[in-house]
Parts: sequence; C-alpha cells; structure tokens
Amino acid sequence: MSEPVNLLVDSFGRKHTYLRVSVTDRCNLRCQYCMPAAGLNWKEKAELLTFEEIEKLTRLFTAMGICKVRLTGGEPLVRKNLLRLVEMLSAVPGLKTLAMTTNATLLAPQAEALKHAGLKHLNISLDSFDRRRFQEITRMDALPEVMAGIESAIAAGFPVLKLNMVPIAGFNDDEILDFAHFAQKHKINVRFIEFMPFKDNQWQADKVVTFAEMKARLEKHFHLEAMDQPQGEVARDYALRGGGTVSFITSMSESFCQSCNRLRLTSDGSMKSCLFFPPEINLRDALRQNAPEEALRGMILACLQGKPEAHPPAEEIAAAENRSMIEIGG
Ligand code: GTP
Ligand code: 5AD
Ligand code: SF4
Repeated sequence: MSEPVNLLVDSFGRKHTYLRVSVTDRCNLRCQYCMPAAGLNWKEKAELLTFEEIEKLTRLFTAMGICKVRLTGGEPLVRKNLLRLVEMLSAVPGLKTLAMTTNATLLAPQAEALKHAGLKHLNISLDSFDRRRFQEITRMDALPEVMAGIESAIAAGFPVLKLNMVPIAGFNDDEILDFAHFAQKHKINVRFIEFMPFKDNQWQADKVVTFAEMKARLEKHFHLEAMDQPQGEVARDYALRGGGTVSFITSMSESFCQSCNRLRLTSDGSMKSCLFFPPEINLRDALRQNAPEEALRGMILACLQGKPEAHPPAEEIAAAENRSMIEIGG
C-alpha cells in the first residue's frame, strides 16, 4: 500500500511525521533543569485538552501525515486514567507508533497494562543512581520508585525502551560510565542529552557536557560502534560491545534542526512548531467553538509555515520568553 500524502511540509521542505502531545503541565518531581525554582502556576483542569479533544486532534494530525505520537508532560502518568487515553489513541487509524516519556515514579504498577493498551515505545528519564543526588536534582526522594518502574518496564518487554540522562558538569557527569554499564547489563539504550537552556533553569554554558566529551570519556572504557542513523532521529546511536546501546542528543554542540520532523501540542491545546520558538497557535479554543476541520487544518498549516529553519544560539534561548521545559513537554 502506498504511503498517504504528507501535508505537513514546512517552508524548508521538512516533512513532519512525529507529534509530541503534552497531557499535563504538572509533575510530581521538580527537576532543577526543567522548571523554574520559583515554581509554576498549574493550569486549571478546564484549560487542559480533554481525552476526547486529544483524540480528535490526533486524528486530524494523523490524517495530515503524523504517524508517531509521544505522550509527554510534565509527567504524563500524573494525569488520571492515562491508560484510557492510550487505549483511545491506539485505535487511531494511521498512527503507527504510540510512545511516552515518563519519570517512571508511577510506572511500576501500570507498565504491563500500558503495554497491553498499545503503548509501544517508552523513554524513562533518570539522571542519577545515587539516592541523595537524585533527591537533589528532582527535589524528591523517589529513586526506589523509579528503579522499580524501570524494572517493570524491562519485564513488560516494551519493543523500544530508552533511558534519558542529562549530565551536568561537576554534578552528575561522573555517572556517565555507570549509565553505560546499566545499558550493557540490561541490554537497553541509554541516551545522554546535552543540557539545554530554558527560561530560569540555571543553565550555563560551562555546565554542558558535550557529545565529544562524553564520547571520549566512554571510549576509555567501552568499545562504541556507530550505528545507522534513522531519518528524523535526534540521537546518534552507538552499539556497546557486550550488549546495549548508548546514544547522544547533541542539541547544543551539533543541532539537528535540518532534519527535524516534530511538532508539539501543549496540554492546554496550543500547537508549537519548534521547542525553542515561542509563538503558538491555540487549537483548543477553535475546537471548542466547533471550528470546521478545514479551519483547524488551515491553522495547523499556518503554524507550520512559521517554523524557523533552526533554533537561535543558546544564550538567546536562555533569555527568550518561551515556556519552560516542563510546560512544553520536551
Ligand atoms: P525518540 O522518539 O525515542 O527519539 O524520543 P525523543 O528524543 O523524541 O523524546 P524524549 O521525550 O525522550 O526527548 C529526549 C530529549 O530530546 C529531550 O531532552 C527533548 O527535549 C529533546 N528533544 C526532543 N525533541 C527535540 C527537538 O525537536 N529539538 C531539540 N533541540 N531537542 C529535542
Ligand atoms: N536539557 C536537556 N534535557 C532536558 N530534559 C528536561 N529538561 C532538559 C534540559 N534543560 C529532558 C528530561 C526528559 C526529557 C523529556 O527532557 O530529562 O528525559
Ligand atoms: Fe518532571 Fe520530567 Fe521535568 Fe523532571 S524533567 S520535573 S520529571 S517533567
């Protein structure tokens, strides 16, 4: 069968196939690099898209060319009955991959059910194996719950399971080797993400541990073999001799904007064409005013046409009036 026509092509010829859907702006952790220290004003429930609205928009985006949806937050599992949304989205025609990124604190009791409901790819965020350090980063003492969540995810056998780690120089970057050992031991993928600036997230250029630096450190202890890079993947993948893989997300040292295939929907129903680009269009209000599908499609295409060619330099991003990471969902 031939692929349906993709209407989601921006003014630089990039085809969009991947939609990141934030289901809540709330999180039960308070990661320092993700949210402002002063905290945030959580959105009222009425401001959030309902599951039915998320499903409707997912159908619309899928009909236009999206074939992968990732549920994000805040922390997606703090949204009540998320399992029901997973079931609803699994039934959307044309959606080939349903994925989620979670902090895993609430995962253990529902990993199996989520997989059963149709969740295929699971990314788990973890920045330290040390309980005290974990608490320092996240401001919560929840490492045991996270480790239980990871174990349940491994046991449930998700076809794709990745750990995301953000090394911060002088803080947790001494654990890079431990994470690679973990990947090897459990035969999973660990991704090292360069620390990115967001408004008020205490980012400093000298806290970024670059791809080149991480790779050099790992190569002193592991044999890394470069793997083929699938189209639209933000990570560079390497096989570890002995099992498992490690990857690097190089947003700071080598941007991958030229092959970006992502769009974003915030929990309050705004579409964003780029993680670092503040303008948004509000699809929720149009939906609630019963705008015809044609009008919604027009809004989506207009937003897409405004997508920048690449993100601005780091210092500019840090000072920009964008939403914080936790509100966008990464
Ligand atoms: P896969 O679908 O497995 O490739 O996952 P993903 O990388 O798309 O999703 P995940 O939620 O695990 O995000 C991992 C990291 O990549 C986070 O730090 C994201 O903010 C970052 N990231 C995701 N999308 C983009 C993007 O479009 N641009 C940049 N610069 N970083 C991104
Ligand atoms: N820089 C890089 N990655 C970040 N994440 C959150 N904030 C940042 C940041 N400032 C990561 C989380 C999670 C993913 C969605 O984004 O660790 O794995
Ligand atoms: Fe929550 Fe994830 Fe942000 Fe940490 S990185 S505060 S777990 S949304």
